[in-house]
Amino acid sequence: MREDRLLVKLENVSRYFKMGDQKIYALNNVNLEIEKGDFILILGPSGSGKTTLLNQIGGIDRPDQGKVIVGGKDISSLPDNELTKYRAKTIGWVFQFFNLIPSLNAWENVALSLELSGDNKNMEKRAKDILARVGLKDKTDLFPPQMSGGEQQRVALCRALIKKPLLIIADEPTGNLDHKTGLEIVNLMKELNEEEGTTFVVVSHDESLKVVADRVLHLVDGQIIDDHRKPQQAMETL
Ligand SMILES: Nc1ncnc2c1ncn2[C@@H]1O[C@H](COP(=O)(O)OP(=O)(O)OP(=O)(O)O)[C@@H](O)[C@H]1O
Ligand SMILES: [Mg+2]
Repeated sequence: MREDRLLVKLENVSRYFKMGDQKIYALNNVNLEIEKGDFILILGPSGSGKTTLLNQIGGIDRPDQGKVIVGGKDISSLPDNELTKYRAKTIGWVFQFFNLIPSLNAWENVALSLELSGDNKNMEKRAKDILARVGLKDKTDLFPPQMSGGEQQRVALCRALIKKPLLIIADEPTGNLDHKTGLEIVNLMKELNEEEGTTFVVVSHDESLKVVADRVLHLVDGQIIDDHRKPQQAMETL
């Protein structure tokens, strides 16, 4: 892979948890390179280490062994305050249960993400513009409990996108939506990936994500046992 396309590099990353005198490996010597602009899907059974892997890339957790390099920086060795900044500026998160703040309306939820990343100019206009981009022009003043699941997940996507993160990490983003609404969210993520070049790393069992992903990783017992790139993309990157 060309160096300038490399966004994330995991080098021999292990993460374990102690149970009595036993070490349970959630991640076992994982090596992984992620390219800018990729749409990656991670599959694997429950307990295989998917969320643990996302947490390493997103700077929520640190490895016990190995390095996590994002945008050329070794985030595994950053001091806590730097890691907090990294999380706020560099990574956009999307969760299964949306995790919006119920006492803030849609645009305020989106603007909060800008504020936390230290970029607080014209927040209201920028938040409303991006909500319009995902079809929520008329819903910017509604509070999360007044919105459908699909609408809340769109707000959550905007909250992730507005800070122009290096990558968006999503853990089961359609897991709490019906099939049709889930498909709308998947298509929206793919559109943002293609039109804005946003890199996505998504954990999901949703079949529709298999269709849009450029690359599919299979995780079993904390190890990547299969790494499959779609042929068309493989040709383009030659
Ligand atoms: N803080 C922790 N303390 C102890 N064990 C942990 C901790 N976090 C994760 N684990 C263990 O690490 C393994 C991987 O967990 P992880 O949450 O990454 O799985 P997952 O693939 O995301 O599963 P699911 O599909 O159910 O969300 C599991 O065996 C889990 O019990
Ligand atoms: Mg998980």
